[in-house]
Amino acid sequence: MENILQVRNLHTYFYLENSVVKAVEGVSFDLGKGEVLGLVGESGCGKSVTAYSLIKLIDKPGRIKKGEVIFKGKDLLKINEKFLPKIRGKDISIIFQEPHAALSPVYTVGYQIEETIRAHNRNMGGKQLKEKVLELLVKVEIKDPYAKIKSYPHNLSGGEAQRVMIAQSLSCQPQIVIADEPTTALDVTIQAKVIGLFKKLKEEENFSLIFITHDLALCAQLADRIAVMYAGQIVEIASLDKIIKEPLHPYTKALFLSLPKKGKEKTKLQAIKGDVPEADKKPKGCFFYPRCNLGKNSCRENRPELKEIEPGHWVRCLVCGIEGRR
Ligand SMILES: Nc1ncnc2c1ncn2[C@@H]1O[C@H](COP(=O)(O)OP(=O)(O)O)[C@@H](O)[C@H]1O
Ligand SMILES: [Mg+2]
Repeated sequence: MENILQVRNLHTYFYLENSVVKAVEGVSFDLGKGEVLGLVGESGCGKSVTAYSLIKLIDKPGRIKKGEVIFKGKDLLKINEKFLPKIRGKDISIIFQEPHAALSPVYTVGYQIEETIRAHNRNMGGKQLKEKVLELLVKVEIKDPYAKIKSYPHNLSGGEAQRVMIAQSLSCQPQIVIADEPTTALDVTIQAKVIGLFKKLKEEENFSLIFITHDLALCAQLADRIAVMYAGQIVEIASLDKIIKEPLHPYTKALFLSLPKKGKEKTKLQAIKGDVPEADKKPKGCFFYPRCNLGKNSCRENRPELKEIEPGHWVRCLVCGIEGRR
């Protein structure tokens, strides 16, 4: 598959008064054309910081320390800053977790979508703009799209507001959509509908999707490939099928064990002891070592690299690798 995005060795730190929060520490992955990549991990593991770093939306005290984000042959972290607004929202768009917070309360839905289109299509006339907005609202299957054009965000339900955000994100035919926990703020039945909508849109449109969530089960409904994050790093990447049938990293396995089983209450990561290390107090060696049931002495001292242990299956572990299957 041809790649649309290549992320290499991305590091993003927050420089606080008394500490350095290493939020993202060596993230690398490829995104294929038309692919859905699920980025999964517990809260605080660096998913959002990774997402914002891709389009350089990191403010002080944060800084992208190193790495490459190659899009159409160019490193987005190195191009002239003035080109970034041309890329954001057009080539690469982002959908946030809290749609009501992301939309402005003082403008109508229609106006906000129009503004996004206008920002990248200066010559589009008023009538054409209005038609385009309506078309987008129909596409995201919002109820009563005509009326919604004139609504203010506070008159929309959470699910409707998220549909508006999705419409806005698609308004300039992006090549990449980054959805950062787009359903986390919604209740479960609405979540399922929004996932259904993403599936439909993926069939109709031609974008690649980075779908970010803490919910592995949700991710599995949509993703072609899954990248599992832990403490600022990707610890395993493989196709959905592979990750489900043959997870190798002990953290990935633990995530699967913590999924709710039929008829049982959901328990949070019951399978592994301890907590995620704080981002400014990570272990010297493997970040997962203090919680790992496979850990050896070498893991305490040495940081594993993300290695391709069979075609398309990458694992960051000194021990599990191929042996982990036994
Ligand atoms: N503006 C900030 N200042 C300081 N630390 C931050 C900031 N934004 C994020 N972090 C820290 O970076 C880490 C990763 O955060 P984040 O990417 O938001 O996690 P996730 O999206 O996976 O829940 C966390 O430890 C978080 O506290
Ligand atoms: Mg987040």
